[in-house]
Amino acid sequence: MKAVVYDKSNAPEVLVLREVEKPTPEADQVLIKIMAVSVNAADYRSMRYGIIPPHKIYGADVAGRIEAVGPEVKLFKVGDDVFGDILKWGSGGFAEYVAVPEIAVAQKPAAVPFESACTISMAGITALQGLRNLGKIQPGQKVLILGAGGGVGNFGVQLAKYFGAEVTAVCGPKNVEIVKSLGADRVLDYTSINFTDEKIKYDLILAVHGSYRLAQYRRALTPTGIMVMAGGALLQLFRQMAFGWLYSIGGQKMYLLKAEPNIKDLEFLIKLVEDGKLKTVVDRTYPLAETAEAMKYANHGHALGKVVVKVV
Ligand SMILES: NC(=O)c1ccc[n+]([C@@H]2O[C@H](COP(=O)([O-])OP(=O)(O)OC[C@H]3O[C@@H](n4cnc5c(N)ncnc54)[C@H](OP(=O)(O)O)[C@@H]3O)[C@@H](O)[C@H]2O)c1
Repeated sequence: MKAVVYDKSNAPEVLVLREVEKPTPEADQVLIKIMAVSVNAADYRSMRYGIIPPHKIYGADVAGRIEAVGPEVKLFKVGDDVFGDILKWGSGGFAEYVAVPEIAVAQKPAAVPFESACTISMAGITALQGLRNLGKIQPGQKVLILGAGGGVGNFGVQLAKYFGAEVTAVCGPKNVEIVKSLGADRVLDYTSINFTDEKIKYDLILAVHGSYRLAQYRRALTPTGIMVMAGGALLQLFRQMAFGWLYSIGGQKMYLLKAEPNIKDLEFLIKLVEDGKLKTVVDRTYPLAETAEAMKYANHGHALGKVVVKVV
């Protein structure tokens, strides 16, 4: 099969399209013919920091069709369409096939295209678990989404609206219109307005991007407000790890999110997409042979929504 393999000896082009052995599913595994895979920070950051998947193939957010099943597989049959986050199972999505445990993936409805389904697992789950699990989002709350132009932020805006919140979204100038179209009540262009200069207090802040001091978040929260940090500048993440607990003494809470793959959450999200209540936004689509370009483009940090590699 064709796969994009990490090969350091081929520097500077370390992602190389090669013929490699097609995987054979183990007893509890499904063999997925990959149709589309989206690029995530988990891919390009792992590569940057030298974390190499077992088969040297990145790509975790996959959607495809089951081509074979191991003898112990109970949940799926050949021909089923599935999607999921396979990072935990060694990635391998930038390829024509991947074999993963059946528990790694969820059923994809026919109405949702593969290119949409492959954008949901990481970014959608991060936004959902940040808002609902840690953020305890409630209808009528004032919610701020920082980094609303990217994959997680796009889902964050829409999910916060779905849960009945009043949403202020922060993004760069080129993304203002699309973020508005996703339902945000107010959109702040961070090049002209700093949310910390406003006097508005939020019940919940989902910090996906940006770099602010914890004290600035604190001042922008209501007395019982919650800040959930999903991503952003390294300095901000270190501050949260070191001092977040201190800022969480009292009514306000500051949490660092570690999103976990969860099949029920995937089913919840894909149903919203199927019902037209959640839109997936794809900035650019690349063929498998141009995976390195897709990774570069996503890594520049200003993609609108998701970057997708279409394998078939
Ligand atoms: N905690 C977890 O479990 C978890 C899980 C998944 C991802 N993450 C993290 O979440 C972060 C976002 O992931 P993603 O997939 O959404 O990334 P992404 O798609 O690459 O996000 C890109 C977007 O970020 C926006 N952005 C960049 N700098 C910004 C700034 N200073 N202020 C506001 N917006 C800014 C850009 O919008 P503009 O062009 O409009 O600036 C761009 O549209 C990453 O750091 C990732 O590692 C965390």
